[in-house]
Amino acid sequence: MLLPLFAIALLFCATVITGAPGRLRVRDDELLQDVITWDEYSFMINGTRLYVFSGEVHPYRMPVQSLHLDIFQKIKSAGLNAVSFYTFWGIHEPKKGEISFEGFRDVQVFIDAAKEAGLYLIARPGPYINAETTAGGFPGWGTYDPALWRTSNTSYVESYQLYFDSLTTIVAENEVAKGGPIILIQSENEYSGFEAPYHEDKVYEHDLINTIRANGVTIPITTNDASQGGIYTIVDVWGFDSYPVDFDCSTPYTWASDAVPETFFEGHLSINPQEPNVIYEHQGGAFDGWGGSGYNSCSILTGPDFQRVFYKNAVAMAITYQNLYMIYGGTNWGGIAHPGVYTSYDYGAAIAEDRTLREKYYDLKLQTNFYKVSPALLTSRPDNYGETAGAFTNNTALETSQSIDAVGNLTGFYTIRQANASSFEAINYTISLPTSLGTFDIPVLGGSLTLSGKDSKIHVTDYEAGSTTLLYSTAEIMTWATFDERDVIVLYGNAGELHETAILFDSTPFNATLTTTGTSDVTSDILDDVALVLQYTTDGQTVVEVGSGILLYILDRTMAYEFWVLHPPAPEKGSYANYSTDNPVIIKGGYFLRSISIDGGTLNILGDLNATADFEIIGPSNITEVTFNGASLDTQSTSYGTLQTGSVEPDLPDINLPDLSALTWKTANSLPEILSNYSDDLWTVANHTKTVNKQRLYTPVVLISGDYGYHTGNHLWRAHFNATGTETGFAVDVWGGDAFGFSVWLDDTFLGSWEGDAVHSSYVASFSFPDTLDEGSEHIITILQDHMGYEEDGTAASDDFKTVRGITSYNFTGSADTEVSVWKLTGNLGGESYIDTTRGPLNEGGLYGERQGWHLPGFDDSDWDNGSPLDGIDAPGVSFYRTTFDLDVPSGVDYPLAIVVSNSTDNPYYRSQFYVNGYQFGKYINSIGPQTSFPVPQGILDYGGTNTLAISLWAHGAEGASLNSLALELRATVASSMAEVENQPFTPWSPRPGAY
Ligand code: GAL
Repeated sequence: MLLPLFAIALLFCATVITGAPGRLRVRDDELLQDVITWDEYSFMINGTRLYVFSGEVHPYRMPVQSLHLDIFQKIKSAGLNAVSFYTFWGIHEPKKGEISFEGFRDVQVFIDAAKEAGLYLIARPGPYINAETTAGGFPGWGTYDPALWRTSNTSYVESYQLYFDSLTTIVAENEVAKGGPIILIQSENEYSGFEAPYHEDKVYEHDLINTIRANGVTIPITTNDASQGGIYTIVDVWGFDSYPVDFDCSTPYTWASDAVPETFFEGHLSINPQEPNVIYEHQGGAFDGWGGSGYNSCSILTGPDFQRVFYKNAVAMAITYQNLYMIYGGTNWGGIAHPGVYTSYDYGAAIAEDRTLREKYYDLKLQTNFYKVSPALLTSRPDNYGETAGAFTNNTALETSQSIDAVGNLTGFYTIRQANASSFEAINYTISLPTSLGTFDIPVLGGSLTLSGKDSKIHVTDYEAGSTTLLYSTAEIMTWATFDERDVIVLYGNAGELHETAILFDSTPFNATLTTTGTSDVTSDILDDVALVLQYTTDGQTVVEVGSGILLYILDRTMAYEFWVLHPPAPEKGSYANYSTDNPVIIKGGYFLRSISIDGGTLNILGDLNATADFEIIGPSNITEVTFNGASLDTQSTSYGTLQTGSVEPDLPDINLPDLSALTWKTANSLPEILSNYSDDLWTVANHTKTVNKQRLYTPVVLISGDYGYHTGNHLWRAHFNATGTETGFAVDVWGGDAFGFSVWLDDTFLGSWEGDAVHSSYVASFSFPDTLDEGSEHIITILQDHMGYEEDGTAASDDFKTVRGITSYNFTGSADTEVSVWKLTGNLGGESYIDTTRGPLNEGGLYGERQGWHLPGFDDSDWDNGSPLDGIDAPGVSFYRTTFDLDVPSGVDYPLAIVVSNSTDNPYYRSQFYVNGYQFGKYINSIGPQTSFPVPQGILDYGGTNTLAISLWAHGAEGASLNSLALELRATVASSMAEVENQPFTPWSPRPGAY
């Protein structure tokens, strides 16, 4: 740096500087450990400030545990450093008092994989989680607990104790203070809205904190307010959630004109100025509901432009931790979903459900890497919030937020965006930026800058990159690193945009040679005798050598997408080897680079390719050899001293996929319950006359299935009655959640169905009897209903999750006197004492075929008829189909597969469930949609063996139904370095004593 420090201070006196530098505040009463601490600016790990850029992943939404590592490595290479995760009480304690971590529920495997990838974890054990999960994560048995849940009611507090003790003990064992990856624990979830007359319950809040501490957790306790409402602030570091473009994916290109929040910093000052400003959930996509627009639309709504505008705005508001909800969504397999979502929980996230990478993944990488190498951001303060329109540009179509480092070297960050968030206009502007050398009208060499449509950029001033100081740069910085005393700075902008970067001289006069290689013209000039100004348009790749001390990469955005910043493990850091951010290597090329190691002069890269790739290695000069997935690559030096490798062809072998429509299928009737010889002796008798449920019931006995221990999947009801002889029909009010349906039979005669739609969560339907019944004759009404999951409980004390699943009223038309002698019901075999502990409590429902285990591999269907779901059935009812097929996918590739169906327009009213090796991996409702492609991960599909596919087909209409088409399709072909995928246990069918 050329100028003495006092001169900089003088020149900079116009800038307001707030905040006290360098204090390391840890709450005195919470000084339980000193590994993770915080002050008013940021979190610190071992005293070093950290921009926590985290992404949400739910272990239960990816049951293949050997794939967690692949997902984590993708998150890590995107430049994130942490993962936040919910755990789901309902799957760990499906029966009160019996806790399980069996199979996919073993949270430890998830934790260990994060550590292996080098990602910190934020544990969010609830007890309430929301998360578009059935009952918001509560166990089904909670629906008949008398307490108001999410309050300090003792019955509720007593209910969560076992689960919360178990989970917080796991957190305690894996917290960072004890060598594990978990840095923070969240208490409750959006404990923010309350059903009147209830309000924030501080006794409950304290009980959760006390339980966490009593189980040995010493890391900071956090909570996520739904907005900056100031609820539950007694935690160590309070924060909030932000979903600025909401969840309607149907108009994905439209945002509200004022969608960009500008109050995050003021809100923070008024609530918790002594803590860092934190967004525990920042929108990373959107969920989509039955009848919705599909996740492609959601990924557009929250695409690269969204990420740029909203995440940078958060940074401008001094947010030093943001967790993207979701970074990888996964699958609502089995009965995980609440009624507002379908099987896919892809979420339009950066990493798609099938683990492929969206463009937004690559764009995110440009931001996260910048935050990693910009410590000045961690102590910066916004200066002009509320007054950003026209600021610094004199153009009110633009808003520019100024944020200045209050502690370090006065670096400035100027975040610019459209004043009308939804504008598609390209706005040309010049900007007057104050710097340590005074204010400059940029571009100083003439011309203008451009902000095109929904975009946002961070222009920097007095930015330090090693021993180089950028006086300013309008092109954004992706990363920088110093190799052999040369500072490499990677700059980017949209293709065709004009940019300027000014570099302070390290000595005067400026006498360094400029050498330019690449596609952009770069003009240069000297500014005030102290800085070198470069003006250029970002197009392709251009490399500028400034003397021997600086190497600038000038890239357009798509070129920048190809750059990765990876770090070799640092064995001297012991169990933290993989968290090291020392010794960065910048590598250009490849679909996905997973990790690197350095062995003497050899750089070993592990990565995945979907097309031919070559690599440019920008690293220390002692790297002379390069391997990719174990194979040596040719290398040669570029003119500017980096290494260029020869190209690598991915090996993408063709594979044979079975033609599902041509396989031999076996079929059996899965609705014997309507036949006269069927016995329901073993069914549960609905004999409760009382319920804690607050719903008004008009039935003589309680017909709420949850009250009898059935909480998921299809349910069946049977009403036995003796006819009076005057009945002309039957009317019933059934509750199942949005998109549910039901069908009704009188003995074996079909009466009709409510086929369901996207908006009805309950429905009253009347059905006529075809004939009059003989007085005194015995009959049975059978009702098959779908259960779409329990509602969430977003408003505390509302007990919304207890909303009825079942029947709230019925009557016999024409006969007020008809009495049901007994109501019986069934759901999944065993109810809360579910049978299949491998696949957990939500995998199977109450269809006859499910109760018998027909969906499981190894069931002997040899005496079934031949019949395919593409032929279907020509009458209302339920049939089951089974087939097997082999897969032989070689190792070394990642070929995600999906079961794909298409819409049937003839006889459209049916619903199907798909079971792969026993795991229920799809629920398709033909008339509602939108999902027609159901990804099934490797590990649920056996890529090197025989697979069992079972399908249920429930035809609602009189003509029956059939699948229109059915295929197993490749979603991507990638040559992959991922760790070998181990199949989840395919526990086969075994006799189910007492199955009915
Ligand atoms: C938040 C909630 C999450 C999830 C999200 C929407 O309010 O905390 O659990 O439901 O909304 O996907």
